[in-house]
Amino acid sequence: MDINSIYNSMQKALKGIVPEIELKYKAELVYKINNLKKEKNAIILGHNYMEPALFYTIPDIKGDSLELSRKAAEVDNDIIVFCGVKFMAETAKILNPNKTVLLPSQKAGCSLAESITADDVRQLKKSFPGVPVVTYVNTYADVKAESDICCTSSNAVSVVNSLKTDTVIFLPDEYLAKNVAKETGKHIIFPQILHGTEQKKNDVDILDYQLIGWKGRCEVHEKFSVEDINNVREQFSDVVVLAHPECSPEVVEASDFSGSTTTMIKYVEKLNGCKILLLTECSMGDNIIAENPDKDILRLCSVRCPHMNQITLEATLSSLTDLKYKIEIPEDIRLRAHKAVQRMIEIS
Ligand code: 13P
Ligand code: SF4
Repeated sequence: MDINSIYNSMQKALKGIVPEIELKYKAELVYKINNLKKEKNAIILGHNYMEPALFYTIPDIKGDSLELSRKAAEVDNDIIVFCGVKFMAETAKILNPNKTVLLPSQKAGCSLAESITADDVRQLKKSFPGVPVVTYVNTYADVKAESDICCTSSNAVSVVNSLKTDTVIFLPDEYLAKNVAKETGKHIIFPQILHGTEQKKNDVDILDYQLIGWKGRCEVHEKFSVEDINNVREQFSDVVVLAHPECSPEVVEASDFSGSTTTMIKYVEKLNGCKILLLTECSMGDNIIAENPDKDILRLCSVRCPHMNQITLEATLSSLTDLKYKIEIPEDIRLRAHKAVQRMIEIS
């Protein structure tokens, strides 16, 4: 496609969402990225939280964490550019050790991934010997390597149920763990791990625990409150509220639907004749609005993930031009992490 055709299709899809004054310049970036993609035999994976000008133009595959992990396992290009955050690009590398996996910004982290270390997981395993460890994909490779199986927001309950054990260590998202505990009828505890010392066994033995959690949180989803929902319901009695499971259990309880980013997108497609409130990252709201121009979508749009926000068309262009930033994972860690990711893909 030439620059004018790219510009025209962006104008059609993103009218009123991306300022007109930016479209010409962004169309030029898209044109350059598309050429480089072909020249270097690269594929671009894009998470649902990418900004609209990127989301609607350059990704060859788009989706939630689970869909992108599945697709990453199937690609046969030499280079994978991951328009998402570091833990997602690492998952692609875990599944494709011989390919070059690029993340366009070194600042694209995640508060959940930062909340736990491999050493924390080793301490927990010592305190709860034999209890299987389920790790949310929003973690780094060395944490996955200490785990039995990974999960995403769309399969967390089925992964926990698949283990057929009474007790599970579920890391690191406190809210996702509480939401899973509620759905699976498990009692949850958050043990304190004392670094460098043995956990006092009596501290935990007396508790009737079935899910052992960790106090990590998504810095975006923890911002939504029940008060936000009540305020909107007061103004719009017909509003249907959708919340990501990284929101607090109180927010999920006060909502009408909770699911992964792609499940939310699909749910919106089916709704008609009502207002819709999305409690998730705000660029995804823009993307849904672009896709559903006739629907009445409300959102609390101040909540943008600062990590996803690092991934722009400019950063992607320089990533493909200079082949940066390459994801590298030591092979012993990758092999152990691969088992946990692969096990999740198999049961999903
Ligand atoms: P999904 O798996 O639902 O895409 O969520 C990933 C994420 O980081 C949400 O904050
Ligand atoms: Fe991490 Fe939250 Fe950003 Fe998702 S939205 S990448 S969980 S900080």
